[in-house]
Amino acid sequence: MKALILSGGRGTRLRPLTYTGAKQLVPVANKPILWYGIEEMVAAGITDIGIIISPETGAEVQAKTGNGEKFGAKITYIVQEEPAGLAHAVKVALPFLGDSPFLMYLGDNLIQQGDLSYFLHKFTEEPQSALILLRQVPNPSAFGVAEVDHTGRVLQLIEKPKNPPSNLALVGVYFFSPVIHHAIANIKPSARGELEITDAIQYLIDEQKPVTACQLEGWWLDTGKKDDLLEANRLILDTYLKSSIVGDVDDQSNVSGRVQIGKQSQLINCTVRGPVVIGHNCYLENCFVGPYTSIADNTTLIDTDLEHSVVLEGAKVAGIHQRIIDSVIGQRAQLTVAPRRPKALRFMIGDDCQIELT
Ligand code: DAU
Repeated sequence: MKALILSGGRGTRLRPLTYTGAKQLVPVANKPILWYGIEEMVAAGITDIGIIISPETGAEVQAKTGNGEKFGAKITYIVQEEPAGLAHAVKVALPFLGDSPFLMYLGDNLIQQGDLSYFLHKFTEEPQSALILLRQVPNPSAFGVAEVDHTGRVLQLIEKPKNPPSNLALVGVYFFSPVIHHAIANIKPSARGELEITDAIQYLIDEQKPVTACQLEGWWLDTGKKDDLLEANRLILDTYLKSSIVGDVDDQSNVSGRVQIGKQSQLINCTVRGPVVIGHNCYLENCFVGPYTSIADNTTLIDTDLEHSVVLEGAKVAGIHQRIIDSVIGQRAQLTVAPRRPKALRFMIGDDCQIELT
């Protein structure tokens, strides 16, 4: 059994974060989204992993993730020249996949820990051409959608339908036997010009090949947008964070709940209410850091109140006298108060940023 993680694509939905990096490397609780999937695979016993990368962000994914050693896996990188669709990515990975059954995992998806082992077991216990996961969602039009009969048999799969036949979305985790390559060879690009994996699975259904659909009971997050990212951050901190304080916390500070503080980080006169993760080499002075906040390495926060937010590496926030909530602050971004007059707001805001002032 092999695994194929799709970590290419354009990443337009998480702009502006993805102007400077791969969306699959955006951290959730200070760890790249992509790594959660790798860890889950290794835990389920799949260690031969291929990762689809794009020419634009591939080098960064490769440099950060490495050859797999740190996960106990062997990682092969496969460049997909154009983001021509999920099924196209499988086509490009054929030399890696050979005639092995495989797990296909979308690199921006997160599913609850432990679920992968369960579904892998279901896939391998009896021969089938594909096993797909479905989850009820409030906005099915944003996903691949399945129509199933009362026994749970899949009748039809449609990619991002305007009038969805159900609220059952296709989760970005699929198990395939090698027969999927035959299906992919027989489909045409969709209206949006992509070779859709949804159409390839539909081909298998039309050919009367056994396709099993399982409903995912645990949580699933497609981290495509800001609010999804904050929700993923909240869930991961809530479920998995363990307390560990390595950095320096002075006597004036008050740390409660589950909190992680990395090495060489310094907290002076701060109140931190977990779950909160603060990375390495951070400097925090006169701050309140509220629940569900992740602060990446090398950040500086001074005179700042922050809650339910994600701060990326190297950012600086200082002297903002209003509480910041539900926010994502990008790498090396600076949010400070200027001492000079006239008293006014001064911005240098990148493309696609969103700022809400009161
Ligand atoms: O998240 C679940 C949804 O994922 C499913 O419900 C849909 O049926 C499925 O088509 C997919 O839809 P998205 O629009 O969310 O796919 P997206 O373009 O965001 O790509 C998903 C991942 O695959 C992402 O990590 C980028 C990567 N990718 C994407 C394309 C199109 C590639 O590596 N190569 C590609 O050509």
